[in-house]
Amino acid sequence: MTDQTITSVSRESRVFKPSAEFKAQANLGSEAAYKRLYAESVNSPARFWGRQAKDFLTWRKPFSQTLQWKTPHAKWFTGGMLNAAENCLDRHLGTARENKAAIIFEGEPGDIRTLTYKQLHREVCKFANVLESLGLRKGERAAIYMPMVPEAAVAMLACARLGVVHTVIFGGFSSEAIKDRINDCNAKLVITADGGWRRGKIVELKESVDRALSSSPSVEHVVVLKRTGNTVAMQEGRDLWWHELMAAAPAVHKAKPLPSEHPLFILYTSGSTGKPKGVLHTTAGYLLGATMTTHYVFDVKETDIYWCTADIGWITGHSYVVYGPLSAGATVLMYEGAPNQPAPDRFWEIIDRHGVTIFYTAPTAIRSFMRWGDEYLAKHSLASLRLLGSVGEPINPEAWMWYHKMVGKKRCPIVDTWWQTETGAIMVTPLPGVTPTKPGSCARPFFGVVPKILDENGKEVRRGEGGKLFLTQPWPSMLRTLWGDDSRFKKQYWSEVPGLYFAGDGARFDKDGYLWVVGRIDDVLNVSGHRIGTAEVESALVSHPAVAEAAAVGRPDELKGQALVCFVTLKGNQTASDELKDQLRAHVAKEIGAIARPDALRFAAALPKTRSGKIMRRILKEIAAGGDVKGDITTLEDFNVVASLQSEE
Ligand code: PRX
Repeated sequence: MTDQTITSVSRESRVFKPSAEFKAQANLGSEAAYKRLYAESVNSPARFWGRQAKDFLTWRKPFSQTLQWKTPHAKWFTGGMLNAAENCLDRHLGTARENKAAIIFEGEPGDIRTLTYKQLHREVCKFANVLESLGLRKGERAAIYMPMVPEAAVAMLACARLGVVHTVIFGGFSSEAIKDRINDCNAKLVITADGGWRRGKIVELKESVDRALSSSPSVEHVVVLKRTGNTVAMQEGRDLWWHELMAAAPAVHKAKPLPSEHPLFILYTSGSTGKPKGVLHTTAGYLLGATMTTHYVFDVKETDIYWCTADIGWITGHSYVVYGPLSAGATVLMYEGAPNQPAPDRFWEIIDRHGVTIFYTAPTAIRSFMRWGDEYLAKHSLASLRLLGSVGEPINPEAWMWYHKMVGKKRCPIVDTWWQTETGAIMVTPLPGVTPTKPGSCARPFFGVVPKILDENGKEVRRGEGGKLFLTQPWPSMLRTLWGDDSRFKKQYWSEVPGLYFAGDGARFDKDGYLWVVGRIDDVLNVSGHRIGTAEVESALVSHPAVAEAAAVGRPDELKGQALVCFVTLKGNQTASDELKDQLRAHVAKEIGAIARPDALRFAAALPKTRSGKIMRRILKEIAAGGDVKGDITTLEDFNVVASLQSEE
């Protein structure tokens, strides 16, 4: 989110109505139907959600109660038993879907593979048997650190089949980050690959796992998929090859019936304080949210080729590459590599080659495409596309318009979907056959979602005024807690205004009741659509022996939304140098992952602090952005600090 975005967003008044043609074929095509369902979802949630859970999910045993709500703890569909993998696979077998493609995979080097629902089911059954043979039992944890290949989905679904709780770790995270996550949830198994392809190079995943495991005592085995063929060290007794285990595994496996509230996965995400937190999602509610939004928001049909470009290491990959579309019986396209490998038109080439009809990506990617130039689109027809989506950060109207004209050829509705790791599924979005769209606004709440914007005192602001974004009713795919830290769960999300869910975002409603999300207002940055906690970056910096103190802030960036700027004071015996700057940036990348490498790092003699010793980030943000320091600085302890920081640039 840039200042430019905020200004242009506030001036935006264009409205785009869904075409009659799209409306006529949409899964939901009338405003009256949206209004009726929405009213029912908020006025009679038990009746509404009870019916949806029966319609969208297949149960082994019906649930007896729709919701037990004791703020902030929800239990949905209690008494019911089901299995998420069975919903994604088995229920499609014996139907016309059995032999349709579940996953069309394209690797970065150009290798293409298709797995039908029947074939994917077979792979998942085999891998579930492998997991059982390795001693994994219901409720235990397995970490998945893999490239974007079908086996990543196989691993997730095999875990789900047994009730093993998976935690997927994004392949760009460092060994330190892997170690922290494994140790936090005591994972017994790691599923990885020798490597993955990225920009023509091998990302050596197994090597990072090896480094992490030197201090992760809970891990008993590592299963290694051969993807890139590079040499890896296999530790006798601990490390096992995927292909060898699979060759010996039976192809028949009966999914375990699990209670609705059985944990499905933990996904770590950055918060405003401390280490990443393990967001816990459970089976029935999460799956209902993912499936239902896939149906209504992406308007998925039997014949669609659906492509969400997110990596499975993020929530978008969980809900809209794996669980949502497979549960809805869609054909999912999966691509392993970079958007500009070998050339900046790789995505458009993929869309034409496979006839992609639905395309879901992030504003930061769209802004890169804009920068690379329209000539790369001109070479491709993109005629198969019928619906576009955006997620991860506010989309600036300029990027929205470009997406609409250049990719959607003015014919495809755009769904700008606001949601979070914690919400599990899309919360605020246009419905493509119903909602007129405004560039830069994520429009209106999905069923059952009641957003409110409150001021500092917890009072609702008037339409048009900005404030903090809250959700006021429980929803099925909401996080249940933070793994092993329920008090942090309560404090982080439910204490800002007691009893309401605080999203951490700033937003406003316009006069038509459309929501405009401005961005994070806590100490979380959104760099290229990825959440980075400033506290994490700061603790990575101070873990370096040369650093005394550090402060990390965001600076508006045209491409990334926000860039990461760090201010560092050194210990007395250290001297500032460009070399040390590079070392410190590399140190953060090593501690967290390349996505957190500071874009800029500045040495300072001192950091601006209040008299009580708190770093005044607001001032640092203004300095990082290159502007004058405005606003109240009377609480500042030492005025000279600001003057010297400004003169240094
Ligand atoms: O600030 C919002 C932004 O991304 C945050 C959630 O990040 P994460 O949990 O990593 O999930 C990203 C994918 C769901 C939110 O608090 N965000 C996400 N989508 C949008 C958005 N901001 C504006 N518009 C969106 N469509």
